[in-house]
Amino acid sequence: MRNLTETNLTDAVLAKLEGAADPRFAQVMTSLIKHLHAFVREVELTEAEWLKGIQFLTATGQKCDDKRQEFILLSDTLGVSMLVDAINHRKPSGATESTVLGPFYVSGGKELPFGSNIAEGVPGEPTYFSGRVLSTGGKPIPGAMLDLWSTDGEGAYDVQLGDGNTLRARGKIKTDAQGRYAFWTIKPVGYPIPTDGLVGRLLKAQDRHPYRPAHLHALIFKQGFKVLISQVYDPADPHIDSDVQFGVTKALIGDFVRHDEPHPTATDVGAPWYSLDYVYKMEAGEAVLPRPPIK
Ligand code: BEZ
Ligand code: FE
Repeated sequence: MRNLTETNLTDAVLAKLEGAADPRFAQVMTSLIKHLHAFVREVELTEAEWLKGIQFLTATGQKCDDKRQEFILLSDTLGVSMLVDAINHRKPSGATESTVLGPFYVSGGKELPFGSNIAEGVPGEPTYFSGRVLSTGGKPIPGAMLDLWSTDGEGAYDVQLGDGNTLRARGKIKTDAQGRYAFWTIKPVGYPIPTDGLVGRLLKAQDRHPYRPAHLHALIFKQGFKVLISQVYDPADPHIDSDVQFGVTKALIGDFVRHDEPHPTATDVGAPWYSLDYVYKMEAGEAVLPRPPIK
């Protein structure tokens, strides 16, 4: 096309997709180009702003290595990760909502007996998590494997400490014949996402804090059910209404009960300790494990 102008440039770029063999690729790229051009038109992007954007994306890529994924962090803090999750894991009514897996999942958690402490020796306030795993129809799911992980009582994940190879506050617990699960751990606490990169600068420019409210992660696996990746949040956390990753929903709020007397039977549990009862509801379907996070 000759005589390209501000008005017909978008159509000229879109026409280049006519030869694309993959129809989904053509659909995604067409929409991306349309929205990108519309954005540039809407804000009347200056050349200096365009260059600043290019420099931002370049530096974001340069911050990535095999341990750090600044682009995923960017996607998280712009709400894109949660939007992709919500679109791809629409749940029928009655099923527990899904949330992002996050960067601190590792598959090596040990399977421990029902009622075990998955955070032996980890600093923090003792917490007894128990409940049931049910189908959306309310039937117990025996033999469901809960793969659990959380921060310690100081807001750090095991994989962030030392050489990152000592797993703690992490473990697997299987439901019993009645679909019940139970385990001890420590009460998770809120933590900041890494702010020493471009995402930190972007948050600062928006006057946003970098915190995730306290939560316990669970990945629940049982053949015949869609893998459930979820989190249970502590409503007392000061950042419960302003999660930097936009992950909190009402249904995922846990009822943490504080006990100010030592535990009646567990002699090593003094006051205060907490208990929480939470029911997970799984949707029937194919059990597909997630891909490991991009490294
Ligand atoms: C997490 O909850 O572990 C998490 C999720 C997304 C980004 C950072 C952390
Ligand atoms: Fe987390």
